[in-house]
Amino acid sequence: MGQNGHHLPKHVAIIMDGNGRWASSRGLARAEGHAEGARAVRDAVETATRIGIPYLTLYAFSVANWARPRGEVEALMRLLVEFAKSERAELRQNGIRVNVIGALEDLPTVTRHAVEDLMAYTKDGDRMVLTLALSYGGKKDIVEAARTLAVKARAGLVLPEEIDERSLQLHMTTHSLPDVDLLIRTGGETRVSDFLLFESAYAELLFLPIMWPDFRPETLVQAVDHSGKKERRFGLTPEQLAKKNLQAFDPFDQPS
Ligand code: FPP
Repeated sequence: MGQNGHHLPKHVAIIMDGNGRWASSRGLARAEGHAEGARAVRDAVETATRIGIPYLTLYAFSVANWARPRGEVEALMRLLVEFAKSERAELRQNGIRVNVIGALEDLPTVTRHAVEDLMAYTKDGDRMVLTLALSYGGKKDIVEAARTLAVKARAGLVLPEEIDERSLQLHMTTHSLPDVDLLIRTGGETRVSDFLLFESAYAELLFLPIMWPDFRPETLVQAVDHSGKKERRFGLTPEQLAKKNLQAFDPFDQPS
């Protein structure tokens, strides 16, 4: 249970949009918006840990982001290195394990090594899993999992009729994560932009007008509180859901 007695989401994912506009509106370079965005990342991670969210996933760099001006891509890659170096001690101390989804191998060597070191250094964290989506694309992740399964099927290692949601997910880079409960996007756009398409099938979506650098600890607390008040029915009617919940907690329930 979270604050005010509501259920805490287990997995919160954030599309951190608006760094560029935040900077432009202040006459600053876009890279400065990203640097300020990295400060907001620290706050969000600290807050998520403090309020007890077990999984936080941040869209740090999409496959589409490679098309941005070279200087901006380089600034983002540098910021990741800085983040990995400056935050490692605190992340480990706070029991946070860093994980990556997407294609870490696409990143420049220096960035890749910094992130790999960070993952190794924090591997024993058991309070929260912080997943960074890097060179990530939701469609790409699904397609690559389907291709891996097809190759296995051709080799006779998998029966096509046995392929299901679970086996597909096990071949995605998100295989170790639970489904998303709450997906937040800052920056005012109401799109999911290829983020966790499969994993957000039943997620609550929350679009905030504020720019990512303006995201504060209270913003996350309020977002989580708001989502805890909503009933997610997974396609069931309210009556079916009530019955299912009752059954789930029935101490006299006999296995059938
Ligand atoms: C979108 O804003 C944001 C990104 C493409 C990068 C997000 C990166 C960070 C928040 C900082 C680095 C991350 C870590 C984990 C240290 P935008 O540039 O598209 O903003 P705009 O829509 O206003 O142009």
